[in-house]
Amino acid sequence: MKMKTARIHAFGDASVIRYDDVPRPRPCSGEVLVRVAATSFNPTEAALRAGLLQAFLPVDLSFTLGWDVAGTVAEIGPGTEGFTVGDRVVGRLEGAGAAADYVRAPGALLVPAPAFVPLTRAAALPVAGLTAWQEVFEHGKVVAGQRVLVNGAGGGVGGFVTQLAKHAGAEVIATAGARSDQAVRRHGADHVIDYTAGPVADALDDPVDTLLNLVPLTSRDAAALAAAVRPGGRIVSIATPVEPPADAGVRAMHMVARNDVAHLTALVELVDAGTVALDISASHPLTDLADVHRLSEAGRIRGKVVIIP
Ligand SMILES: NC(=O)c1ccc[n+]([C@@H]2O[C@H](COP(=O)([O-])OP(=O)(O)OC[C@H]3O[C@@H](n4cnc5c(N)ncnc54)[C@H](OP(=O)(O)O)[C@@H]3O)[C@@H](O)[C@H]2O)c1
Repeated sequence: MKMKTARIHAFGDASVIRYDDVPRPRPCSGEVLVRVAATSFNPTEAALRAGLLQAFLPVDLSFTLGWDVAGTVAEIGPGTEGFTVGDRVVGRLEGAGAAADYVRAPGALLVPAPAFVPLTRAAALPVAGLTAWQEVFEHGKVVAGQRVLVNGAGGGVGGFVTQLAKHAGAEVIATAGARSDQAVRRHGADHVIDYTAGPVADALDDPVDTLLNLVPLTSRDAAALAAAVRPGGRIVSIATPVEPPADAGVRAMHMVARNDVAHLTALVELVDAGTVALDISASHPLTDLADVHRLSEAGRIRGKVVIIP
């Protein structure tokens, strides 16, 4: 049986994305076959498509896109335990592949999907949610009462970072442009700085305990933001490394998110409890994926975008 995929056979601009019919895979030992309800777009995927990640995240071509998956279990591989056909699942796939009607997935990477949101929305959660969880809790060590600056709160990761920092009890200062101002406030930001109006550091009246950086920065902007962190504070960046002056007494790190089903399960629970909302700005059919890449590269995407096969 055939299925539709969005994949690349070469690195390059968004035109390298092809919508190919391929044989539907069969799950191997330890895997299930997921009928994909949705995947979501993550900008790192555009970098991968352009060939910019080959040095540290090499992939073989042809490569089917789509790290996030939400769907239902359609078939269970030999020896795979803990699943029933029809189970609703979400996960972050190590080798991508969810930009397709079906994808094989190791059972160990999947968790039960949120019960109270449609699968077509739940696909927004794994990559961005896991990144945010690890930035806020694991590396940022955000706790109640801290002043936290979330730089880039309007993006797919930023929506989760803002909500998780608020959930931890922090006072959140978020940077956002006009188009994301309302969403960022809905996510609980106590103060919003319009990053398009001037240097963010100039708009801060007091130092912050923690800087969570989610956007590429010039070295000048990075230095100005780093200087806004009090001695003893922390900086965690998922984009440009942000280094404080040597004698500032500030711990700084650049992080790369990883799969962790305990973290993903905790996120699912927060979504089901209504504590964390999914900030989905658009939904597109699979055959629009190249256009979604172009929109992202033109800076025209905010929040999360889900892709429906
Ligand atoms: N290290 C890791 O493990 C990891 C994991 C996931 C993502 N990433 C990277 O982290 C970054 C964020 O990911 P994402 O999915 O959130 O991206 P995204 O959704 O594409 O982020 C877009 C948002 O960035 C905001 N933005 C752009 N320039 C800004 C600036 N100068 N100051 C403040 N906000 C700005 C815009 O906000 P407005 O709408 O307010 O204009 C826009 O909504 C990307 O570079 C991605 O590749 C890294």
